[in-house]
Amino acid sequence: MLKQEINDLLTQTGPGTPMGDMFRQYWIPALLAEELPENDCPPVRVKLLSERLIAFRDSDGRYGLMDEFCAHRGVSLWFGRNEESGLRCSYHGWKYDVNGQCVEIPSEPDERHSSLCSKIKLKSYPMVKIGDVLWTYMGDPATTPDLPQWEFARVPAEQSFTSKRWQECNWLQALEGGIDSSHVSWLHSDGLKNDPLFKGAKGNKYNLADMKPFFEVVESEGGLFIGVRRNAEEGHYYWRITPWVMPSFTMIPPRGDHPIHGHFWIPIDDENCWVFTYDYHPVRPLSESEVQHMKDGHGVHNEFVPGTYRPLQNKDNDYLMDRAAQKRGDTYSGIKGISMQDASLQESMGPIVDRAKERLVSTDSGIIMARRKLWRAVEALRDEGVTPPGVDVRHQEVRSAAIVLPKDQSFIEGCAEVLRVRPGEKHASV
Ligand code: FES
Ligand SMILES: [Fe+2]
Repeated sequence: MLKQEINDLLTQTGPGTPMGDMFRQYWIPALLAEELPENDCPPVRVKLLSERLIAFRDSDGRYGLMDEFCAHRGVSLWFGRNEESGLRCSYHGWKYDVNGQCVEIPSEPDERHSSLCSKIKLKSYPMVKIGDVLWTYMGDPATTPDLPQWEFARVPAEQSFTSKRWQECNWLQALEGGIDSSHVSWLHSDGLKNDPLFKGAKGNKYNLADMKPFFEVVESEGGLFIGVRRNAEEGHYYWRITPWVMPSFTMIPPRGDHPIHGHFWIPIDDENCWVFTYDYHPVRPLSESEVQHMKDGHGVHNEFVPGTYRPLQNKDNDYLMDRAAQKRGDTYSGIKGISMQDASLQESMGPIVDRAKERLVSTDSGIIMARRKLWRAVEALRDEGVTPPGVDVRHQEVRSAAIVLPKDQSFIEGCAEVLRVRPGEKHASV
């Protein structure tokens, strides 16, 4: 359980909050690159860390992310004209470049024009494309970290696929689902048997046979390695190891030769988050059928309300609950699809769960340690200006693993090599 004030500290990410300051230390996913597909395409509204912003791509292919509202009289620049290397407000024609600098006020007389323009600049943040994602850094420009090195975003394009969805709850309870691997044996039991992006792996049978997993959590430089042990053949354990890198990157342990997947949980505001979901294979292109399955919402992806990033199954339609399928055992909860199984339950906790009321047990040890690590890092940043774990790009070079080890070997010894990115080498998976 967590005191209310600690819950507030960890869940609030708006400007000026301690956790908000911490999120602003990192490059975070802002949009998918597909949202700004070509030069001078329509601008996109995006809310991040409770700030309302506008994203656009100018005539020269440069990306801009800046305050959504015009400096003149506050009109949304979403209505603007994206033309001739800038975004022009539709009300009186003021124009801004990708840095938020005002470059034209057409109504002003020539003699005052340039001095007035030079004084007007919207708040703006850098935005860069790496992989399928547009990343932004919303902190102090003086401490801009190196660009992200996550393997999923750095492998050749044909080896990676990323989607994003809107989740209607606070980022932390969504993240906590990502490091709680004990729920897989129940909530996702159907997926292990049927999902085209999971089924067939030898490890699945250990998952389904041992319903009392043992957790061992080890600190890493950037966050945690959450090891979960289940019985395997005589004298052996099946280990699934989930890295969490601060503040909100997780990677699910792989299954067989299927691609590896995971999530970034990014606050929109305190009651909503973006879930960026990636899938990649370190050494081979994704097959056409794998990509099609991802687009169709299998694996950890989902289907969408057409033209939006809102899941087709959402709280307004009770996630298309199918009680008959639940009774028959086709699905454990009656909800179809891994990501919607997770989202439905996490959203059901309310927009910000009251952690003073929980009763944590041994399988929650990953969650307990992650909260403690976040809390410590937030205080160290706030009180002493200490850069938090995960900013250093070396902390980002991690992989998940699924592996069978002799009973007397600790996972951290047995996996020291395979939990690191090894370019050109396959991930450890059974
Ligand atoms: S409000 Fe934008 S130009 Fe007047
Ligand atoms: Fe899950």
